[in-house]
Amino acid sequence: MTHHDLALIGFGGVNRALAEIIRDRGDDLAADLGFGLRVVAITDLRLGSLMQSDGIDLDAVLAMTGADTFAGMPGGDAQPRNEYVIRHTTADVVVEATFTNPVDGEPAISHVRAALESGKSVTTTNKGPVALASAELNRLAAANGARFEYEGSVMSGTPVLRLAQQTLRGLRITGIQGILNGTSNFVLGQMESGKSLEEAVAEAQALGYAEADPTADIEGSDVQLKVVILANELLGAEITTADVSRVGISGITATDVIAAAAAGEHWKLIGTVERDEAGAVTASVQPLSLAADHPLAGISGATNAIAFTTDLLGTVTMSGPGAGRLETAYALLSDIIAIDDHQATLAGALR
Ligand code: HSE
Repeated sequence: MTHHDLALIGFGGVNRALAEIIRDRGDDLAADLGFGLRVVAITDLRLGSLMQSDGIDLDAVLAMTGADTFAGMPGGDAQPRNEYVIRHTTADVVVEATFTNPVDGEPAISHVRAALESGKSVTTTNKGPVALASAELNRLAAANGARFEYEGSVMSGTPVLRLAQQTLRGLRITGIQGILNGTSNFVLGQMESGKSLEEAVAEAQALGYAEADPTADIEGSDVQLKVVILANELLGAEITTADVSRVGISGITATDVIAAAAAGEHWKLIGTVERDEAGAVTASVQPLSLAADHPLAGISGATNAIAFTTDLLGTVTMSGPGAGRLETAYALLSDIIAIDDHQATLAGALR
């Protein structure tokens, strides 16, 4: 049976969860998918760099690191070492899940570039490389016979990008509306039950939904990056965050939220992308009070959801998790499956 060799760059919650999935379900996955998965390199600030071309003992590494997911550890200082490992590992797939600055996308962008330049396919859960550099990185992938996959950059493992790019092929998508940030949705829900914004944010942090700096969740910049990804990847736009108007939820009061609920409406932080008849794309992030029959009105807690407006099917809605270690690790697994599918297609075409 064929197998893919993986290099895990960053061993925080997400890559650790992927290692657990491979350790616990590797045999079942191989039977189901027709290929095995072997981890041949791991880099992390605390672990250093581990490279073992015939496979790292995941049980030993997972036991050594305990349940600590190293959440919030910046990866910037380790970037030169990580790039060395990425270029020299025997892995064919680089799994990039470092703690990355969402504003400049580093160190993830440099990691993805190093992987593609050395002819290795890469999957990342970081938004930065996709929102800020996907055109360059996709060109680099094509030039080096590699794949660049990033399903986890929007709605973690809930496969919204593949739903739109593969399952809905042939439809014309004219608009997208989404609840794309779990923290702000959770906070608005808690405010409906009488909590203050500050109390609700503290709870979201304790539950692990919020970014290290929850300002990105509350003021809409996390959604802004996701809207850029949706506009560029699914509607063929070439926009940046500067093109997306942004209003967060800090101006919404508990009184607003409770009054809306009494009238059967719900405040939601909505990312919107629209394409007009001439093909021009506009995008925004803003809180909206949605009527009860709106497809996104009933999405509660930290759940995310997206509604595609299409020409032949009307509105198609998908909801699911938008964060979480296992949920985001599944996005990496689904990307590895997509890389394998692509290689199998190429091999078939060459026969
Ligand atoms: N902080 C984000 C959220 C995590 O609350 O949705 C995923 O980007």
